[in-house]
Amino acid sequence: MIGRLNHLAIAVPDLEAAADQYRNALGAKVGEPQDEPDHGVTVVFIELSNTKIELLYPLGENSPINSFLEKNPAGGMHHICYEVDDIIQARDHLVATGARVLGNGEPKNGAHGKPVLFLHPKDFNGCLVELEQV
Ligand code: CO
Repeated sequence: MIGRLNHLAIAVPDLEAAADQYRNALGAKVGEPQDEPDHGVTVVFIELSNTKIELLYPLGENSPINSFLEKNPAGGMHHICYEVDDIIQARDHLVATGARVLGNGEPKNGAHGKPVLFLHPKDFNGCLVELEQV
């Protein structure tokens, strides 16, 4: 059911420093910061030839990234995003297999303007999984 790896997301304590490191030390193509108020994050996308890296920084007091950075002050792997063709069909199939969808279970618009859902990390070996309809 899942398709390509769309991106890996890393929560970072200093967005500018992390973006500079990918740009200068790793020589990657780094985008501009984008605020995503619906998700409580500011993101920077890094384009690799085979996937993307999403740097996540908290936006607002209720950002889910605040608690993540409290537990992981140096930053860390936050989630992995897989592509699906039909997010509703994928969700219904996953729920039928016992997986839990975060939030109200309805897709939200993600950082690329496409519908996304998050699956409970406890149901996926401790890894938060994002599905994006492409
Ligand atoms: Co993501």
